Amino acid sequence: MTVAPPLERLAQLKAMLRDIGMDTDYSAIPADGFEPDLQGWGDQDPIFDYVFRHFHPVVTIELGSWKGASAIRMAGLMQEFGIPGIILCIDTWLGSNESLWRVAANREMLRLQHGYPSMFGQFVRNVQHTGHGDRIRHLPMTTGCAAGLLAAFNIVADAVYIDAGHDEAEVAADIAGFWPLLKPGGIMFGDDYTTEWPGTVRAVNRFAADNGLKLMGTEVKWLIRKPE
Ligand SMILES: C[S@@+](CC[C@H](N)C(=O)[O-])C[C@H]1O[C@@H](n2cnc3c(N)ncnc32)[C@H](O)[C@@H]1O
Repeated sequence: MTVAPPLERLAQLKAMLRDIGMDTDYSAIPADGFEPDLQGWGDQDPIFDYVFRHFHPVVTIELGSWKGASAIRMAGLMQEFGIPGIILCIDTWLGSNESLWRVAANREMLRLQHGYPSMFGQFVRNVQHTGHGDRIRHLPMTTGCAAGLLAAFNIVADAVYIDAGHDEAEVAADIAGFWPLLKPGGIMFGDDYTTEWPGTVRAVNRFAADNGLKLMGTEVKWLIRKPE
């Protein structure tokens, strides 16, 4: 697989976003009623520093962004290490698993308005507040839809962070769908490799075993480097 240089691939991604009407200026999106709130899960994990310090990903795709905490952490590391790139956030902003809907405190964060989540406004508010609007872009769609769209535009990523659906089938589908979009030598990593999320662990273990890949990680995150 011949891969174009990172800045060429970045330009290709920006062109794709323009083509589909998603060259977003976050400062122009209203986020009235939302105060900055960077609640998330594990965005301070050292794995982010490891990936951005050592591999300098220019095109990073995040599956599952919620309020933007992990994307904003990665954008901050891009700034720190002088990486000119984009974190492409893929999320429906509709909530991922039954506990987000069943547990009242979680459901509150979906900010239901007339029976429909409005939490995308929280993501926007946080991007505006942290000043990373130039480093972040979003695709409001399912991960499966995004995999097809990005493949159709021949987008190739340096890194893919997986934190969307956590059932075994969902994680397996996200890994399988985005692995072909990752450049050789690129990094795929993800959240919740813990006993609390056995489906995630099973999907990651199976993919690594079936493909003879070395699995690394921290206490809660997993990481696989695609062979060159
Ligand atoms: C655990 S949260 C992400 C947390 C975020 N990475 C952080 O650290 O702050 C999971 C997110 O994935 C999204 N999600 C779940 N399944 C999805 C799917 N199939 N397609 C797109 N988004 C999905 C949900 O809407 C939710 O915002």
